[in-house]
Amino acid sequence: MSWLNVSRPMVILAPMDGYTDPPFRRFIKHIEPRAVVFSEFLSAALAAGKPSLAPTMFRVYDDERPVVIQLYGKDPDHFCTAARLAEEQGAAGIDINMGCPAKKVVAHRHGSALMREIDLACDIIRSVKAAVSVPVTVKTRLGWENDRNLIPFALRLQDCGLDAITIHGRTYSQKFDGEADWLPIYALKDALSIPVFGNGDLVTAEQAQAKLGNLDGVMIGRGAVSDPWLLQRVCDGFAGNVGAARRMLPFSHKVKAWKRFAQMAVATNPKSERHACQAFRKFLVRLHKDLGLSPEVRRPAVQVATLEDIERVLDLFLDASQELSSVV
Ligand SMILES: Cc1cc2nc3c(=O)[nH]c(=O)nc-3n(C[C@H](O)[C@H](O)[C@H](O)COP(=O)(O)O)c2cc1C
Repeated sequence: MSWLNVSRPMVILAPMDGYTDPPFRRFIKHIEPRAVVFSEFLSAALAAGKPSLAPTMFRVYDDERPVVIQLYGKDPDHFCTAARLAEEQGAAGIDINMGCPAKKVVAHRHGSALMREIDLACDIIRSVKAAVSVPVTVKTRLGWENDRNLIPFALRLQDCGLDAITIHGRTYSQKFDGEADWLPIYALKDALSIPVFGNGDLVTAEQAQAKLGNLDGVMIGRGAVSDPWLLQRVCDGFAGNVGAARRMLPFSHKVKAWKRFAQMAVATNPKSERHACQAFRKFLVRLHKDLGLSPEVRRPAVQVATLEDIERVLDLFLDASQELSSVV
């Protein structure tokens, strides 16, 4: 079954460089099997130039399916080869990044730069469509400086056979400033015949419900890093289960789940335990920030090098958060 036939409205984990690798995607899917997960953006040129990397780059585990692999680049031939390799590894869909605003990405005519090169963007879509049998989608922004070209741009991509599109409600110029604007996304949905997903600034199930409008689903990024249970609450909200959508789990329950996530991240890291633990530090820092803990508790979180270190830090967080709540 195509991932686009998952029941609506869909709840999607956003592609996030450095975060949405297999362990985090599987963590999210263990919590909420109804969610669809996207990989972080992966280089089409790298995969096409070194196909032996494909089994590691595009690794998909059974318990995270369906996984959409996101590619970035500018060369239609690279996209074509990379998409084929990703499909062979089990990708349920190929998403093309046309929204990354990072300077070095745009300087190479990748990411957001493709919004200003419509002919090239269309060539890429046509090439990938011809190369794979899974859905081909795009994630982009409202536009370069404003949303005036959003509908014409998306209509051209739709004419090239695009299967669905996700819009982050900011322009390239905004980067991550200001608030995401969802109104142009609703207007786009009215103009297109393919599924349209909205993205930007969702951190509660209530917000997701309020922003959904006429769209086919929502995509959630930073909110899921801060609180991996958010997607579950959003799915519950969409299913009309208001009580579950508001439920907040005790931190002790979450600590157990974070420990299982750490164990999985270490056990499946293709390099080493140390590498997996270093990559885990950013989650601990995020957790620390959200809990509002003291600086002393933060230090060991940015030094973890073994699974035992991570478990010790999580226990420390639990103790500190209990002390904090008893003070309040
Ligand atoms: C750390 C980080 C990495 C990101 N990496 C990607 C990426 O690889 N591909 C992509 O299309 N968007 C990427 N994004 C953008 C997110 O997918 C999303 O569009 C953005 O964060 C807005 O959604 P949110 O408010 O739910 O986080 C990234 C965002 C962050 C914060």
